[in-house]
Amino acid sequence: MTLIGLDVGTTAVKGIAISPDGELLASASEEYSLSMPHPGWAEQDPQDWWRAAQACLAALPEGEIGFSGQMHGLVVLGADGNVLRPAILWNDQRTAAQCAEIEDRVGLDRLIALTGNRALTGFTAPKLLWLREHERDLYQRIRHVLLPKDYVRFRLTGEHAIDVADASGTLLFDVARRRWSDEVCDALEIPLEWLPRAFESTEIAGAGDQAAAALGVGIVSPGLVSVVLGTSGVVFAVLPAYAPDEQARVHVFCHAAPGSWHAMGVMLSAAGSFAWLRGVLGGDYRTLDEEAERWEPGVEGLQFAPYLAGERTPHADPDARGAFTGLTLRHDRGALARATLEGVAYGLRDSLELLRDLGVDAQAGRLSGGGSASGLWSRIVASVLGIPLERTESQEGSAFGAALLAGVRSGVFADVQEAVARCVRVRDRIDPDERWVEQYERGYARYRMLYPALRALQER
Ligand code: XUL
Repeated sequence: MTLIGLDVGTTAVKGIAISPDGELLASASEEYSLSMPHPGWAEQDPQDWWRAAQACLAALPEGEIGFSGQMHGLVVLGADGNVLRPAILWNDQRTAAQCAEIEDRVGLDRLIALTGNRALTGFTAPKLLWLREHERDLYQRIRHVLLPKDYVRFRLTGEHAIDVADASGTLLFDVARRRWSDEVCDALEIPLEWLPRAFESTEIAGAGDQAAAALGVGIVSPGLVSVVLGTSGVVFAVLPAYAPDEQARVHVFCHAAPGSWHAMGVMLSAAGSFAWLRGVLGGDYRTLDEEAERWEPGVEGLQFAPYLAGERTPHADPDARGAFTGLTLRHDRGALARATLEGVAYGLRDSLELLRDLGVDAQAGRLSGGGSASGLWSRIVASVLGIPLERTESQEGSAFGAALLAGVRSGVFADVQEAVARCVRVRDRIDPDERWVEQYERGYARYRMLYPALRALQER
């Protein structure tokens, strides 16, 4: 039996085929672009995902398919299943006013108790309110709402379906009871019949990309944290029970393992920051890494604030902006690269600290995502977080988790625990670099002063 994992990401659809022992048989990837029609907006054409998914599937052997994908994106369909407008994505920041409206209509405490979260600009519900306000005619024609990977499943199978992990990121989901929330939908006047049927991840072979990535590196119970250096940056921990943070400083969602929950902090521009830098300065990642390696930690006072697309955790501020501070004539391209890698690592540390406040005892982690291919970046992140990080044999991240879910759904594995035991193997372990840890402790204290300083500038 061949297991296929299809990840509908922000930059590409990635497809893999694995054996029931987790051995990679084939992979394919098909890119598409991101449209930013206004500052702070981020959209994609769902047809691009569908075309890319078809191209990937054509390049892979046949098998049982599992899905993962970028979370929170809003796809709206009319009565005949046609897409009504480009999808509004997870990193789109247009909905600050609608977030305030949601917290007002539902009540902040009640919203946190029900959904595990506060209203954040990237989530799905505020996007629907934005459409109701700004594209009224189109809003009247909506009959179905889907998330990105579920649109691809819909095109393949005709089903309107979603998993509890991805549904958690809509802000319309009763995360404790693992079903759509009548109360929130009523308060926001969003018809429940627009929403797809919700299943456990193992029943439908699907999960939001972060739950899938965590599963793909073997994180299905409390203990290890998942650290992801993708376009976004994530620190993720499985919780012993549903327990939202009182102020919802981190997200609490259903996990892909039935009956379990997780908390996570999400920064919007992690490997996305490094991709941006490479785009601006030129060079390939390897060269930038080599040039960055020539600099000492702290880069002679050069710091980077990674808020290129606003920020979610820990600031929940769509208007946050990125910056380099402390530039001198000595700083070159490698210095900018190293400061970027360090700035993103500090951003992850913010999320780890919030998880610790929630009672997560993080002694070690597993690292995945495109950025984890860099040995230097992995060492910097381990040193800034102060915990050892393991990398697994599979570097396929969310797509690997999706393939494991396909295996559970089709009965190849009895459950996610068996899938992990058979398929996930640790490849190497990166320990914090003793020489860097203390310096990065000081660096982190300085980093925490950056956002308030930048915020003061923003307000002028
Ligand atoms: C998670 C999130 C991002 C996207 C990226 O809450 O918004 O990680 O899922 O694909």
